[in-house]
Amino acid sequence: MKTEVVYDEKEIERRIKALGERISSDYAGEPLFCICVLKGAFMFFAELVKHIIGEVYIDFIRLDSYDGARSSGEVKLHNDLSMSVADKNVLIVEDIVDSGRTLEFLRTHFDSKGARSVKVACLLDRPKNREVMQKVDYKCFTLETSAFLVGYGLDYDQLYRNRADIAEVKFE
Ligand code: IMP
Ligand code: MG
Repeated sequence: MKTEVVYDEKEIERRIKALGERISSDYAGEPLFCICVLKGAFMFFAELVKHIIGEVYIDFIRLDSYDGARSSGEVKLHNDLSMSVADKNVLIVEDIVDSGRTLEFLRTHFDSKGARSVKVACLLDRPKNREVMQKVDYKCFTLETSAFLVGYGLDYDQLYRNRADIAEVKFE
């Protein structure tokens, strides 16, 4: 499969560090409940939480809406959190916000469980593909194209998640 690098590891890590510093100052003195949205956010999440200073709870949730490189449009919950978010400041950590459906599902999910506040941090934001309006509070990069990306957690048919950079898939 042909790919072309869009963001290299150094640039990605520089942006994540800056985002972590912003989040630390925004939540200064308040515990934060960081939720990794598996599988795509695993690498971004690990790097981001290293740069958040203060009391940080960590938990994982697994969802998917993808079938190969196509979105099915239907979000499925596979594994829920292991701790309660009731009265917690929640930070949803996502790889990419595209149609906004995953985020809409997660916000509703955490609101219904009594979270005190719910914000979102994503590695990539692609507002041009949005189908449901979702506010993104923290992001590293904004995408202007619909190119399909892999690496730094993002997959194509469950592969390439381990790439340290982010690359565009060149479909022939
Ligand atoms: P949404 O629900 O449409 O916002 O999509 C969110 C999920 O779709 C992300 O968490 C990714 O797992 C997946 N996704 C969207 N665009 C891409 C892409 O370019 N490459 C890999 N996965 C993607
Ligand atoms: Mg994802």
